[in-house]
Amino acid sequence: MVNFNTAAGCFLASALFAMVCGKVSNALVEPHHLEKPAIAVAESAPAATGAPAPAAELAPIGAKLASANVDAGKAIFTKVCTACHTDDKGGPNKVGPNLWNIVGRKKGSHPGFSYSSGMEAKGGDWTYEDINHMVFKPSAFIKGTKMAFAGLPKEEDRVNLIAYLRTMNDNPPPLPEAK
Ligand code: HEC
Repeated sequence: MVNFNTAAGCFLASALFAMVCGKVSNALVEPHHLEKPAIAVAESAPAATGAPAPAAELAPIGAKLASANVDAGKAIFTKVCTACHTDDKGGPNKVGPNLWNIVGRKKGSHPGFSYSSGMEAKGGDWTYEDINHMVFKPSAFIKGTKMAFAGLPKEEDRVNLIAYLRTMNDNPPPLPEAK
């Protein structure tokens, strides 16, 4: 019994010692908290490239379309937009509407797609500049839009993408004059 008590006492004492050590070392070594989230959400988010231009002040892209890289635009579409859109003729609506003929198409007019009320209220046809605004920051261009997409901050990407979208059309509309 004596032996047992001694052993139990020893055990308790060392458990206590370990607890105290843990507390002390916690106090000595501040647990390190990450200052930034470990995962960067978007490398080229506006915060990283300086203040984003408000949507209303987005520079026109029309004159840049003629020298755009359509293949690069297609790659962007495939990587970013196909999650929610098809762009082939007669393609199905997904999370977003099919985008065949999008340049020049009436806003919010694709059959079989249920648009947000903001989109239905917007009115007019999709011009190059309107698509530029939409792709830059959908939520700033269409109030309460269903297009849950942060936006493409790089102008070059938008220009290439829109030049590509122009080709997905029965009758690709003319390119604006390069100035
Ligand atoms: C997360 C899904 C999602 C992604 C990603 C997305 N879209 Fe959309 N898009 C939508 C939805 C949903 C709508 C309908 C918006 C509404 O009704 O407000 C829409 C609408 C549009 C419209 C208007 C269509 C019309 O018929 O009036 C255009 C143009 C458009 N998207 C282009 C793009 C392009 C280009 C990309 C890639 C850069 C893209 N979207 C990425 C979901 C998405």
